[in-house]
Amino acid sequence: MYLFKSKVCQNLWKWMIETDTVSISWQFMMVWLVGTARLDPGLNGKVGRLAVLYPYRRKGVGRRLMSFLHQSAWDMGLSEVWCHAQLSAQGFYTQLGYTKEGAVFQEAGIDHITMRCVRN
Ligand SMILES: CC(C)(COP(=O)(O)OP(=O)(O)OC[C@H]1O[C@@H](n2cnc3c(N)ncnc32)[C@H](O)[C@@H]1OP(=O)(O)O)[C@@H](O)C(=O)NCCC(=O)NCCS
Repeated sequence: MYLFKSKVCQNLWKWMIETDTVSISWQFMMVWLVGTARLDPGLNGKVGRLAVLYPYRRKGVGRRLMSFLHQSAWDMGLSEVWCHAQLSAQGFYTQLGYTKEGAVFQEAGIDHITMRCVRN
């Protein structure tokens, strides 16, 4: 989502069109750029970088991404995952079984809260 708006991405598109690689890359991007999420086992299962492209939201993509991430965490032997959730996404994490912890804090000028999900 953020990448699409960036100068780097504009230059990448220009290069792909000029070099005729756009058809291959489009298929690649259709698969890869609908959503993104990251699991950091080094930080005891911290989830981050979660975003779904605007037109694909509220269609279950975020839930599927998180389901994959959770299964990966359990497969690694982790018993819980956690995140710094933007307040606007708190309801999403609650739907997935996360509970909030502690007080609201600011990260990059945005209100966040720590949320945790324990394996059933
Ligand atoms: C948060 C985000 C990843 C959710 O992805 P999504 O694909 O729209 O979520 P899903 O469609 O899988 O929704 C799963 C459930 O959560 C609910 N939900 C989704 N976003 C929600 C929100 N912002 N607040 C409350 N509930 C939400 C859905 O209604 C759905 O519930 P249901 O199954 O009962 O219908 C997406 O809205 C997004 O990219 N937001 C901008 C970036 C962002 O805020 N990232 C998180 C930073 S911590």
